[in-house]
Amino acid sequence: MDVIALGDPTDAQIEQWQAVVAAVWAHDRPGEPAPDLEQTRSRLLEPPTTSRNLMWAALDEGRMCAVACLRLPHDPDRSGEIDIQVLPGYRRRGIGTRLLATAADGLRAAGCKSVIVQAVAGTPAVPFLEARGFRCVLSLRAMLLRMDDIDPDRLAALVAAGPSGYRLTRWTGAVSDELAMELAMAKRAMADLSLAGPGGGSFRWDAVRVREMAEAVAARGDLLYTVAALYGPTSAPRIAGFTEVVVPSAAPERALQYDTAVVPEHRGRRLGIWLKAAMLQWLRTERPEVREIETDNADDNSHMLAVNEELGFRHQRDYLDYQADTADLPALPR
Ligand SMILES: CC(C)(COP(=O)(O)OP(=O)(O)OC[C@H]1O[C@@H](n2cnc3c(N)ncnc32)[C@H](O)[C@@H]1OP(=O)(O)O)[C@@H](O)C(=O)NCCC(=O)NCCS
Repeated sequence: MDVIALGDPTDAQIEQWQAVVAAVWAHDRPGEPAPDLEQTRSRLLEPPTTSRNLMWAALDEGRMCAVACLRLPHDPDRSGEIDIQVLPGYRRRGIGTRLLATAADGLRAAGCKSVIVQAVAGTPAVPFLEARGFRCVLSLRAMLLRMDDIDPDRLAALVAAGPSGYRLTRWTGAVSDELAMELAMAKRAMADLSLAGPGGGSFRWDAVRVREMAEAVAARGDLLYTVAALYGPTSAPRIAGFTEVVVPSAAPERALQYDTAVVPEHRGRRLGIWLKAAMLQWLRTERPEVREIETDNADDNSHMLAVNEELGFRHQRDYLDYQADTADLPALPR
């Protein structure tokens, strides 16, 4: 078994990588659409501007049987991210551990002190990560809303029932200059959900980061939709809450819920459900090809889970975010 680094992967290597990903998803996430070739290509070759990717593949007689991608942040105080995928027929032979040790070498060389990995609850990734120095830091519930299940009259009633003193606004792509800092402040309202410790905890939204996030979505060819609740004078509007959905260009049938937040002093007034209902109404008319919306919420975020259930989202599966200190990861034999 050889492990090779893929500095600048060729088309043929990306196709083999994709074959591994498709087989692993079919085995570990049955019923969930796997990323397609274009999504895999852009994930590997177009990381966000704040990071770079290091990639490795394990080969058996020249064919890829496992792959690993390490997303290394330029800022070593932020956490790296690792994704390892081993073909079902090659598991429990130490290949996952070897790729993890290889990625750990990359983290150490870059001075990056911690790393995060996402696992699907109930899959082999959980015992693997727990046996290899990771601890669970966040548990996420994935929910799915089928657009056909929405009752349009109920949706219209929810949108009409907006709390007084607020008005809705919406935009696609990056936020206007006028609202950029307000949006960043509202995103800081989500700080209670961020991961503790290096990486997650040090992240702070500002107007530049808000725009960078929208640009990263646009660079993939996807479209970001935002609905916000405003208050205060029209000459200097303030944001009380917002919700974001991304419609992927490669697979617009399944849109992805991004952030939703209500600023603490505006909570408890049904702004969350108002914003999300307005978003659904917008997408139904603007993007009828969207058939489903997927969302992930921390499983202790009872308010957001209740809002989603009221809108018709149904529980799909649970994801677990694991974190490890680089120092605790396995090392390659010297
Ligand atoms: C998680 C995954 C990468 C593990 O790869 P692997 O090559 O089977 O892992 P290893 O052989 O190095 O296993 C190392 C240890 O992890 C634990 N482990 C791995 N799979 C396990 C399982 N199915 N049940 C219990 N323990 C398991 C064991 O302690 C194992 O040591 P042992 O075989 O000596 O008992 C692989 O199952 C996979 O590709 N899963 C789908 C992709 C995924 O979820 N990736 C995200 C996590 S990075």
